[in-house]
Amino acid sequence: MGVAFGPVASAFIQSDAPVSVIVGPVGSGKSSATVIKLMRLILGTPPGADGVSRSRTIIVRNTYRELEDSVIKTFFAWVPQSSGEWSPGSLTWRLDVPGRCQHDVMFRSFDSAGDVGKLLSTEYSYGMLSEARELPEELIHMLPARLRYPTQRDVPGFRGRVLIERIRVIRRIGSTVRLWSRKPKAGRYSSNRQAWPRTLRILRICQPGTTKA
Ligand SMILES: Nc1ncnc2c1ncn2[C@@H]1O[C@H](COP(=O)(O)OP(=O)(O)OP(=O)(O)O)[C@@H](O)[C@H]1O
Ligand SMILES: [Mg+2]
Repeated sequence: MGVAFGPVASAFIQSDAPVSVIVGPVGSGKSSATVIKLMRLILGTPPGADGVSRSRTIIVRNTYRELEDSVIKTFFAWVPQSSGEWSPGSLTWRLDVPGRCQHDVMFRSFDSAGDVGKLLSTEYSYGMLSEARELPEELIHMLPARLRYPTQRDVPGFRGRVLIERIRVIRRIGSTVRLWSRKPKAGRYSSNRQAWPRTLRILRICQPGTTKA
């Protein structure tokens, strides 16, 4: 089955901004576009000197229940679970091709601002904040600093990315980071059978002091 995304979701998927945000109406394809973008990044992670591409991703939702009921289901709706190894106990999916790549995707819940400290124990390549409006705001500020895997020594020039889906406090974030916004556009995506006109709005924010949109 062919899958297509509309112009706004496509711009979000293709954006190379350090932090990219997608917002839009219920059911407009935000989570799906975020998973596709994440896999584009993961599979495009440059290899280290030994030729092996390595990445570590954290996907965050506010509660464990919603991780199970929503985020993990959406992820595996787009990514064949059997193409990697799923560990339900640790909520981690590993794509391991010896000599080629080793990518870990870790699903984590953060119910309170105090849980943000869990982030400090590990370094990541990519972070995805699902339904960010329900997450502690500190996460959004702290995550970019945790994106240090692979290290600059292993992969010089590597830059991690943060993907944010649905955000509430865009103005307050705008006071500490630079904010770009686009006017709502008519977005359209379609599968073989259906084509739904949707409106999505894409907002891209940048880390302070940078000029890349
Ligand atoms: N490009 C696409 N082609 C075909 N189906 C799609 C596409 N994008 C999303 N869908 C389907 O549309 C439905 C809603 O998508 P999704 O869950 O990604 O939207 P959402 O904006 O995250 O929804 P919510 O607001 O409920 O979180 C899902 O069943 C998904 O499989
Ligand atoms: Mg969603």
